[in-house]
Amino acid sequence: MIYGIGTDICDIRRIRASLERHGERFARKVLSDAEIATWKKRSERWPDRGVRYVATRFSAKEAFSKAIGLGMVMPMTWRSCEIANLPSGQPTVVLHGALKAWCEARGLQAHISMSDESEYATSYCVVEKKP
Ligand SMILES: CC(C)(COP(=O)(O)OP(=O)(O)OC[C@H]1O[C@@H](n2cnc3c(N)ncnc32)[C@H](O)[C@@H]1OP(=O)(O)O)[C@@H](O)C(=O)NCCC(=O)NCCS
Repeated sequence: MIYGIGTDICDIRRIRASLERHGERFARKVLSDAEIATWKKRSERWPDRGVRYVATRFSAKEAFSKAIGLGMVMPMTWRSCEIANLPSGQPTVVLHGALKAWCEARGLQAHISMSDESEYATSYCVVEKKP
C-alpha cells in the first residue's frame, strides 16, 4: 500500500549561488560520499551539469522527506538519503544509517522521479509500505 507521497521544486539559481558562495562545503552538506564522486565527474565535464546534479538531488531528498512524513527532521538527513542510478539510468533511493533502520522497521520502499528545466529542478516520490 501507499505510505506517503512527496514533491519538491527547487530553484537552480539558488543552488548555483550557494555553490558559488560555499563551494564544496555546500555540496558535502547535501550529497553523500558516492554522490560527491558523481558530482565531481559531472562538474569536470561541464560545470553546469554539476549544479543541476546538486539541484535535482536536493529536490529528490526534500520530496523523499515529505513522502515519509518527517520533513528534514531526524532520522532524515541529507546525506543518509542517497539517490543512485540503476544500470538503466533510472534513479533509486539508497538509505544509510538511522534513516535506513527507521524505514526498514516500517517496511518502507521508496520510488523517486526527477526532472529539470533551465531554472528549476523537481522531484516526485512515492513511498510504499510492504505488507
Ligand atoms: C517539509 C520541508 C522539508 C519542506 O520545506 P520547504 O522546502 O521550506 O518548503 P516547501 O514549499 O518545499 O514545502 C512546504 C510543504 O511541505 C509540506 N510539509 C511540511 N511538513 C511536512 C512533513 N512533516 N511531511 C510531509 N510534508 C510536509 C507542507 O504541505 C508544506 O506546505 P504548507 O505549509 O503550505 O502545507 C520542511 O518544512 C520540514 O523539514 N518540515 C518538517 C519540520 C518542521 O518544521 N516541522 C514543523 C512542525 S513542528
